[in-house]
Amino acid sequence: MIRINEHYTKLKASYLFADIAKRVSAYVAANPSKPVIRLGIGDVTEPLPPVCIEALHAATDEMARRETFKGYGPEQGYAFLREAVVQHEFAPRGCHVEADEVFISDGSKCDCGNLQEIFSTDLRLAIPDPVYPVYVDTNVMAGRTGANVEGRYAGITYLDSTPANGYVPAVPTTPADLIYLCFPNNPTGAVATRAQLAAWVAYAKQHRAIILFDAAYEAYIRDPQIPHSIYEIEGARDVAIEFRSYSKIAGFTGTRCAYLVVPKTLQAYDAAGQPHSVHALWNRRHSTKFNGVAYPIQRAAAAIYTPAGQQQTRALTDFYLGNARLIREAVTRLGLSCVGGDNAPYVWVNTGLDSWAFFDRLLQQAQVVCTPGAGFGRCGEGHVRISAFNSRANVEQALARIAAALA
Ligand code: MLT
Repeated sequence: MIRINEHYTKLKASYLFADIAKRVSAYVAANPSKPVIRLGIGDVTEPLPPVCIEALHAATDEMARRETFKGYGPEQGYAFLREAVVQHEFAPRGCHVEADEVFISDGSKCDCGNLQEIFSTDLRLAIPDPVYPVYVDTNVMAGRTGANVEGRYAGITYLDSTPANGYVPAVPTTPADLIYLCFPNNPTGAVATRAQLAAWVAYAKQHRAIILFDAAYEAYIRDPQIPHSIYEIEGARDVAIEFRSYSKIAGFTGTRCAYLVVPKTLQAYDAAGQPHSVHALWNRRHSTKFNGVAYPIQRAAAAIYTPAGQQQTRALTDFYLGNARLIREAVTRLGLSCVGGDNAPYVWVNTGLDSWAFFDRLLQQAQVVCTPGAGFGRCGEGHVRISAFNSRANVEQALARIAAALA
């Protein structure tokens, strides 16, 4: 008799953004004359930068000619992109990252979901709350947690991110083996200082733990004091893996390209305490289960590292940050406190009200979709996340509607 992975039965029935999409579709079906503006899921709206379009066309032409056609590429990604990543993302910040430590993939969601499988199922997890739901759900699927009791899984050390700590949790007093961190943060938009990240690196060293550092939103950092990469912190090569994505910097949510940095100095241990190379384990997993990102997509990603590409992607992130500023200002005028939006494309609004009820109110009365904070964890209750990813006209209209609805 075929049996299921029973750990799946511990999960909430559906994924947060699928849940929201279902509610919004039901509302749209019942109210076809009321156009909805989506500031919920962080999906980009502006077209790909022109350099990426040109690179896609050129690479497609290469695929059309026998002499330049490409079949399977290297699973880890083409050298031209891995080298460009090192040269443009890490070397200028003084980070030691080597090209063969960069693994090109089809998205950070997949990377965060997949990476955990090279580690033991009985390790101790530390995960922030609120948090991108993929970190928790994939560990539940893998069997690393107990049941969900009142919104929290047994077996996870939750790192509470609250107004009291500025939404940046301190290191816990108990040991953990695998730690998830995301800065600039999804959903709160908070950023971590060098000293805060240094404390995490020291903690990971002390406990021979590994930090999974999600830097998918680093291109939105404007404060020059804030680190963009965990490898800006001394010693991080020995304790951290970093996720990066082209989704939010270059509009690749539908195009799909991201990468993971796994330093060759990183070690994890077997039951006998013997060290193993995490890079070798991940390389084994990646080359067994993944066949690489399409050549034209990798060419499009590499195009952002040209001088024109750098200008165009900066303009794109500046544009969304302009939306975020308008959101912050409008929310503040309504007398609500908020964080984020200055170094991140998300504004985290402290409404003090039930977050799903607030979500419903904005949907029904303003036809605006936000994301209820409770969907990101217990500490998200009382908050909603408003995304800056939309056209300027839609953001302005959404803010006018919200102001009218909450007046
Ligand atoms: C979000 O809205 O949190 C993000 O779009 C999720 C993602 O990048 O997968």
